[in-house]
Amino acid sequence: MLVSATLVALGATLAAAVPTLEVRGPYFINPKTGNRFQVVGMAYQPGGSAGYDEDLGKDPLSDPDACLRDAALMQVLGINTIRVYNLNPNINHDECVSIFNAAGMYMLIDVNSPQVAGSLTSHNPWESYYAEYLNRTFAVVEAFKNYPNTLAFFSGNEVLNNLDTGKTVPPYMRAVTRDIKNYVKRHSSRPIPVGYSAADVREILFDTYNYFQCSLEDEEDDISRGDIFALNSYSWCGDSSFTESTYDKLVEGLKDTADPIFFSEYGCNEPSPRIFTEVGSIYSADMWSVFSGGVVYEYTQEANNYGLVKLNDDGSAELLPDFVALREQYAKLNFDEIQGQKAPASSAKPPVCSQSLFTNKNFNSNFTLPVPPPGAEDIIEKGVSPKPSGKLVDVKNFDVKFTVKNPDGSVVANLAVQPLANDEINRPGLNNVSTTASSTTGTPAAGAKDNEDAAPHAAAMVLPAVAMGAFAVMAGMAI
Ligand SMILES: *[C@@H]1O[C@H](CO)[C@@H](O)[C@H](O)[C@H]1NC(C)=O
Ligand SMILES: *[C@@H]1O[C@H](CO)[C@@H](O)[C@H](O)[C@H]1NC(C)=O
Ligand SMILES: *[C@@H]1O[C@H](CO)[C@@H](O)[C@H](O)[C@H]1NC(C)=O
Repeated sequence: MLVSATLVALGATLAAAVPTLEVRGPYFINPKTGNRFQVVGMAYQPGGSAGYDEDLGKDPLSDPDACLRDAALMQVLGINTIRVYNLNPNINHDECVSIFNAAGMYMLIDVNSPQVAGSLTSHNPWESYYAEYLNRTFAVVEAFKNYPNTLAFFSGNEVLNNLDTGKTVPPYMRAVTRDIKNYVKRHSSRPIPVGYSAADVREILFDTYNYFQCSLEDEEDDISRGDIFALNSYSWCGDSSFTESTYDKLVEGLKDTADPIFFSEYGCNEPSPRIFTEVGSIYSADMWSVFSGGVVYEYTQEANNYGLVKLNDDGSAELLPDFVALREQYAKLNFDEIQGQKAPASSAKPPVCSQSLFTNKNFNSNFTLPVPPPGAEDIIEKGVSPKPSGKLVDVKNFDVKFTVKNPDGSVVANLAVQPLANDEINRPGLNNVSTTASSTTGTPAAGAKDNEDAAPHAAAMVLPAVAMGAFAVMAGMAI
């Protein structure tokens, strides 16, 4: 029995995995090559809010057949990271995570959820800051911390979205970040970055950045500051440019960052269909001194019309013109060069917390954070009980079981995940399954205009963002 247990353990170490990434200064680094890593990401919430069902034990990473279909299509695009918003820590995600890992993809995990006691609320945040809520976020950390492809946890998503929330939310949001970082520090075998995903509401964006990233008392390892900072930005619409989109203002405003920054959502959908010319700017020298790529919003077509792929009830899928347009933009880039950059030496230090950092007089400048609510310190100390736990498993078959159609109605042939070798990360071209353009590409489809009212924003008023924030863990333990 001992012998077979050892063999199983050895087998587990041999399972191919993406290299666990590290944060060094303002960069994600692949420690195996020393190169910077740029997020080529996709927001993944199949079924929208219906994709999560507590009673049925269903969330976006619970159905392996669906994950295989979606991982194959994302691999064809060239995606290397998925963002998942709404996860149930108590169900098994091993197969789906193993499929995305085999396809060479990382995960950005929102630890919050739209359920009751699932997130810090924008309105009266102190009413939602209690142990049961924190316990749920810690449970998500437990469920994902051991996977090697967990890239980061988002501690919150767009909880601040205007001047009013800027007055009340910051200390609570920073306290949640602190609590999750303390949990990771105590219970994860590797450091997994934790940070906030902000709404790109310019009147508060840079104040928000300063509040979450500043360092108390000039301590660089301040446990309550974010390890990363991300923003959901929809300022590049149609055939825009680095300056017209005001991306230049983002680079200017964030250029002294001491932490990795990236778009946690992008992809303005007016006009529609999209042409995704921002891709060329995001992965160019215009942006990459400050930004580490971005996450396209979003994989599936929902009522708010941001989808690349339409899913049908029988599991079949149809590629939309936006899928083809995005694939074409990625294909224009040289990802060997983009992912092959060495990180320049950086002596960037976080700003020291002080009221002088803020441009809005009424932005909250109280850096005395709320203490953890009753009971929370005990959970941070002892760990969630019972503890969910995840691990990579063998995937037996990589062939997609469902029919997937091109925009012109033809069937995509031979669709499968191409499992990558150990330490390989997906990039455009590795899975070269052919997809065809639509005869209607370039012609706005009827009803294609975004309907802001139908947008599934849980927390955002201004942006099409959806879910609640979270933190992620990357775990390097193979056994
Ligand atoms: C904490 O989370 C675990 C895992 O989800 C759950 O089983 C447990 O009931 C939770 N405890 C509290 C006090 O909420
Ligand atoms: C700052 O926040 C702390 C913790 O919530 C609170 O005790 C304190 O009164 C606040 N200070 C001011 C000046 O509002
Ligand atoms: C895809 O790549 C394989 C292996 O490199 C090659 O044999 C095949 O011809 C390629 N197919 C297309 C459509 O480019």
